[in-house]
Amino acid sequence: MRILSGIQPTGQLHLGNYLGALQNFVALQETNDCYFMIADLHALTVAHEPKQLAQNTRELMRAFLAIGLDPKRSVLFVQSHIPAHTELAWIFNTITPLGELERMTQFKEKTEQSSSINLGLLSYPVLMAADILLYKPHAIPVGEDQVQHLEMTRSIARKFTNFYGKLFVEPEAILTKSTSRVMSLQDPTKKMSKSLGPQNYVGIFEDEEIIKDKIKKAVTDSGSEVKYNPKAKPAISNLLAIYSMISGMTIPQLEKRYEGRGYADFKNELADAVIKHLKPIREKFQNISDDEAAEIFEKGGRKARTEADAVMKVVRKRVGLV
Ligand code: AMP
Ligand code: TRP
Repeated sequence: MRILSGIQPTGQLHLGNYLGALQNFVALQETNDCYFMIADLHALTVAHEPKQLAQNTRELMRAFLAIGLDPKRSVLFVQSHIPAHTELAWIFNTITPLGELERMTQFKEKTEQSSSINLGLLSYPVLMAADILLYKPHAIPVGEDQVQHLEMTRSIARKFTNFYGKLFVEPEAILTKSTSRVMSLQDPTKKMSKSLGPQNYVGIFEDEEIIKDKIKKAVTDSGSEVKYNPKAKPAISNLLAIYSMISGMTIPQLEKRYEGRGYADFKNELADAVIKHLKPIREKFQNISDDEAAEIFEKGGRKARTEADAVMKVVRKRVGLV
């Protein structure tokens, strides 16, 4: 099955991105034909520092490789290296109803948060549709927040069919399991996210001492038992879920292991387990140079471009540009 997904280079990767998305990408490449992309053009839709964006992109390339995405198995590329994405997005702009874009939850939320809204934020799902449809993938692994954008992609594919004849495949979402929704260390009712502040997340490339400290200071629930119960004990349940995903031990096994021991012991050993799990990834990250990573993504980009250009040739003809 062909699979495609993308991640924006918006800063440090945290355990939520890793356990919720990237680890899943690595598993998927074993048995599928995968395309993984760094969505740098999408990152332009929010305020950013140009030098920082370029640096984030370079780091994300190294991170993709460090976590185990393998250029022999997957096509790894950077969105902006393939001009066909923006060209197709423009064509899709001309068949996408304004009303549908204005109804997107992410757009509405961003509009509420800021007084200056750029056009890119509105047509963000149109670019995403181009990213996807160009490669005719069957399935898109994404978090829940992107499901609506994927519906939009499907709708755009249907509109293109109505106007110009069938060309694109309507892809399905592959949702990461709800158990892999990693919650904030400070507020277990919210998703772990950079925007909540540094104490809320564990960056996968942060200093070990900082990781340890953040986990030790994670909020806990009343009582003292290490028991999985997301309603009554949301904080401990989140930590147990992280522990389980990172160690391969099941939650009942972990509950048993910490029976009669307090939260402090549990958090200490969780910190050690997280650090141990991340160690080889961090070492690989350190050992890959920017140049090496750039070369791999150049090569992936050439492969993606060849495919995308072939599709664009057909698109130009269908819409009457040639
Ligand atoms: P973002 O950095 O929010 O653009 O997210 C990049 C990817 O990581 C997306 O596929 C998200 O669904 C996933 N992701 C982000 N935060 C979390 C979280 N706290 N738990 C699980 N997955 C997450
Ligand atoms: N919008 C996605 C996010 O923020 C990133 C993305 C861009 C993407 N293009 C994509 C994801 C294509 C899947 C497929 O998470």
